[in-house]
Amino acid sequence: MQNNPFGKEVSTLLKTWQHTFTNAKNALDAGCAHGSNAKFLASFGIQVDAVDIKLPPHEVNTQINYIQSDILTFAFDKKYDVILALNVLQFLTAKDKYKIMDCFIKSLSQGGVIFIRSFTQKDPSFNNSKIIKSHFAQDELRRWAQNNRLKIIAYDEKVINDCHEPIGKHQHGLVSLVAQK
Ligand SMILES: C[S@@+](CC[C@H](N)C(=O)[O-])C[C@H]1O[C@@H](n2cnc3c(N)ncnc32)[C@H](O)[C@@H]1O
Repeated sequence: MQNNPFGKEVSTLLKTWQHTFTNAKNALDAGCAHGSNAKFLASFGIQVDAVDIKLPPHEVNTQINYIQSDILTFAFDKKYDVILALNVLQFLTAKDKYKIMDCFIKSLSQGGVIFIRSFTQKDPSFNNSKIIKSHFAQDELRRWAQNNRLKIIAYDEKVINDCHEPIGKHQHGLVSLVAQK
């Protein structure tokens, strides 16, 4: 069994597109969990606000401001050069998801980069889960980026195989977006 890829590893999306944020000064990691992605951003000298509704224990890092908060009540009172919403939006209802995505657009600085990864309607949880509350339809996230005049750097929809305790073998339908304002 491999480890659950959501939460403890640095996102491959971040590693692949790291050249897009090498000049960034600050970032928001929405749903940061253990902070692997926040720490990766901090390693570039980026100051990170790392928000999670249920913060796990974490090491002190002067580059990272860990904030225990529901992203729905987070202040969004500054601009960010990088915004991460990796594997978190599926926990919000469709209405709340778009409310937060509007906040992301307003908080993203000009030239800033946003990374989103979430579940699609091809995920087995579609119409079958109380925990997973929303799923992107085909091309929905791409249209959102286009409607908000973001420049799409990378966009991908796929079904992946996953295997970890306690579920064992299963699949996920995922959409990934990297886009610049
Ligand atoms: C699957 S983990 C993803 C962690 C990390 N972003 C990653 O991709 O590896 C989802 C995280 O989102 C957090 N979360 C869920 N709903 C949230 C909300 N409304 N506000 C803030 N964090 C939330 C959970 O507590 C959990 O730590």
